[in-house]
Amino acid sequence: MINVGDTVKLHSLIKKYFNKDLLFQLDSLSMMHDVDNNTKGIAVMQILTTFGINFKALGSGTNRYAILLDGYCFKIALDEDGKTDNKREFMYSKLAQPYVIKVYECMSTGLICSCEYMQVFEAKDFLMPSVQKEMREILKELTKVFLIGDIGIDDKNYTNWGYKLSDGSIAILDFAYIYKLSYQVFQCTCPERGMLHYTKNYNSLVCPVCNKEHSFWDIRKRISRQQELGEIGNILEKGYVVDKEWSVVPFDDRFSYSPKNKKKKAVSVKKDKIEDDEELTLNASIRKFMESLDNESEE
Ligand SMILES: Nc1ncnc2c1ncn2[C@@H]1O[C@H](COP(=O)(O)OP(=O)(O)O)[C@@H](O)[C@H]1O
Ligand SMILES: [Mg+2]
Ligand SMILES: [Zn+2]
Repeated sequence: MINVGDTVKLHSLIKKYFNKDLLFQLDSLSMMHDVDNNTKGIAVMQILTTFGINFKALGSGTNRYAILLDGYCFKIALDEDGKTDNKREFMYSKLAQPYVIKVYECMSTGLICSCEYMQVFEAKDFLMPSVQKEMREILKELTKVFLIGDIGIDDKNYTNWGYKLSDGSIAILDFAYIYKLSYQVFQCTCPERGMLHYTKNYNSLVCPVCNKEHSFWDIRKRISRQQELGEIGNILEKGYVVDKEWSVVPFDDRFSYSPKNKKKKAVSVKKDKIEDDEELTLNASIRKFMESLDNESEE
């Protein structure tokens, strides 16, 4: 048990694996405007290989390229949006537990974040009615607090979902499009200003008065760039700030994932339970770095 006043030892895997030159190359790539993101994904692989990184490719999304390294997932931004997405996920990961991956570290620029590695859904997982039922329950909980996009129950979104290795529960691995917002944003544009609610599969919102359907993107357009930046706030205040691989810092309970005081919703366990370690996982922040109270000893 760690108490206020104690110190914790943080271990940054971003700092461990990504040296300055490597970061420089990845960042330069992310800033190229005349290269498409598919090509950038291939370039990321080449750069990592050149630097001798022993990774496994997990896949390319719209704005980020994910790799598996040392048992963790690292998301590398391919452009400015990818950087914002990394920051957004770092900021909201704790609030949205246990329904999303744990994000452990994020660079202050958003170039790379490190997070929990999951087993991504295949089409057959997504097609199971029991799985869709659980997804719907998760979305029901999340939409009480967030406006969400890109994670509704739809066959183009299922690669944004998977199973947590810790307990086999279902969770979301790409949740960059969630916004914590006031109810005003959820009003219809009709004269009655009906309160929008989600459709059954959470892919759009509908007005109970005029029945008009609004996409997530329609609603998101109402959020100004200013509001968006305000919402993200200063990422340096959202976790421990470290600049080397190992740091000893005063413990701050705001930055911890506390698996025990959050009651899990009933989600079925697909695999043997792996000990969800006693140790706290620190939502260490930025400029590079992360968690782990204990150097090598795990479990
Ligand atoms: N935590 C993770 N564990 C395993 N695979 C992941 C994880 N995060 C992402 N991936 C894989 O990488 C792909 C791209 O990552 P994603 O977060 O969806 O990026 P984008 O926001 O650009 O769509 C995902 O579709 C998935 O296949
Ligand atoms: Mg995605
Ligand atoms: Zn309406």
